[in-house]
Formats: sequence, C-alpha cells, structure tokens
Amino acid sequence: MKLIFIGPPGAGKGTHAAAISEALGLPIIGTGNILRESVKNGTELGQKAKSFMDAGQLVPDELILSMVKERLSAPDCAGGYILDGFPRTLPQAEALTAMGITPDHVLSLEVDDSAIISRLTGRRVCDNCGATYHVVGMPPKTEGICDVCGNALSVRADDREETVKERLRVYHEQTEPIKAYFEQMGLVRGFDSTGSVAAVTRALLQYLGASQ
Ligand code: AP5
Repeated sequence: MKLIFIGPPGAGKGTHAAAISEALGLPIIGTGNILRESVKNGTELGQKAKSFMDAGQLVPDELILSMVKERLSAPDCAGGYILDGFPRTLPQAEALTAMGITPDHVLSLEVDDSAIISRLTGRRVCDNCGATYHVVGMPPKTEGICDVCGNALSVRADDREETVKERLRVYHEQTEPIKAYFEQMGLVRGFDSTGSVAAVTRALLQYLGASQ
C-alpha cells in the first residue's frame, strides 16, 4: 500500500504516519526528517537545505526529487510506504506520476491556521530517535524526556512563531494546489485533524481497513 499524507505544518502528518506505520508495517519516507538528519550530519544535501528550512521556505525541487528517488529504490519500499511531507509542490506531484507511482490513498489532514501556532509552539521532538510529543496534547511520561529512548527533548528550529507563519503562507501558496491534482484522480480523503490524537488515528485506521 502506498499512502501520502498532506496537510499544513503541524496538521499531525508525522504523528499519524508513525501510528499507521506501526499498525500496517509500512516504512515512513518523511522528507522533513531525512533533511533534518542530513543537516545534523553536515552532509552536502544538509548544507544546501539548511537555510531554506530555517527560513520556513521549501527546499528546491531538484534536491528533493533526487533524495526521494534514491530512498524509494531501497528494498524496504518494495511492499509499500507512507510519504510524509512529499510531494509538496505540483512539480513534485507530477514527478511522482512520471515515476509510474500512483498512491492508493491521499490522506488530507485538515486543521485551521489558527490552531497550528499553538500546536507547533507546544511540540517537543527527540533529536535522537525522532519521536514527537506535545506539551498538552501528547506529553511524554516524564517532562522533557523521550519515552522511547530517554533522550532530552527539544524544540524544532523552525517552530518559532514567525517561521511557522511563513511555513503556513508557503503551504497555502505551493502545497495546497496538489490536493486538486490528486482529487482529479479520485484519491483524496479528508480527515478533521482537530480531535484528540487517538481519535484521528482511529478514524484513519478505520478508513484503511485496519481498525484498532
Ligand atoms: P516537515 O518536517 O515535513 O514539516 P511540516 O510539513 O511543516 O510538518 P510538521 O513536521 O511541522 O508537522 P506534522 O504535520 O508532521 O505534525 P506533527 O505530527 O509533528 O518539513 C520541514 C521543512 O523541510 C519544510 O519547511 C521544508 O523546508 C523542508 N521540506 C520537507 N519536505 C520538503 C519537500 N517535499 N519539498 C521541499 N521542502 C521540503 O504534529 C505537530 C504537533 O501537534 C505535535 O506536537 C503533535 O503531538 C501535535 N498534534 C498532532 N495531532 C494532534 C491532535 N489531533 N491534537 C492535538 N495535538 C496534535
């Protein structure tokens, strides 16, 4: 099964991709995570991407496309995958089609802009294992400590309020149009992502025929 998550920054793409990955045994191809890992490791890709990410802008399509093509050719993608954060522009969506890839479902997580700022300023992430929390909606068992690996949690560099506003602007301008692209193919299903994390995960799993 090939799934795509789309939605504004902070809609819950990473959170629900993790739950569905666990339930269905599918690898997650999260372009934001791959880029952050590249920045952390100081790779050539990371050095090229960093300034765009810090400013809340999209990384140029050509860098993203070669990164995604390489990742999708790995053996663990043979049985399907979850795309989180890709495609994010019309040229990226068209490139996916040109690669002969048609997703089974495009899961659109819907949240108003007004809710996004508080979500993202309350987000805490583990730089070691990638787990994501929220200080109110999904707190770790011990404040500031990752449940999974015990690492100290931190605030993502692009979760400052001004950068979040820019990411939202870029989302509406460049990413929202890909919804219509996949709607024409009859692949998009919208989910209200303002309920509890557990309720949204349940609705997604039910739709995918994998009820908890
Ligand atoms: P990326 O990492 O993909 O960031 P994003 O799309 O802005 O999405 P986020 O990771 O911020 O949010 P999310 O929807 O995953 O929400 P989450 O589950 O964490 O990209 C970062 C940057 O990399 C981009 O700005 C760009 O520069 C670059 N990039 C990446 N891909 C690219 C591409 N294809 N092309 C070009 N550039 C690219 O949830 C957020 C918070 O809310 C969490 O704390 C969570 O616990 C909480 N939460 C989630 N669901 C709920 C709920 N139902 N109720 C309450 N709280 C909730």
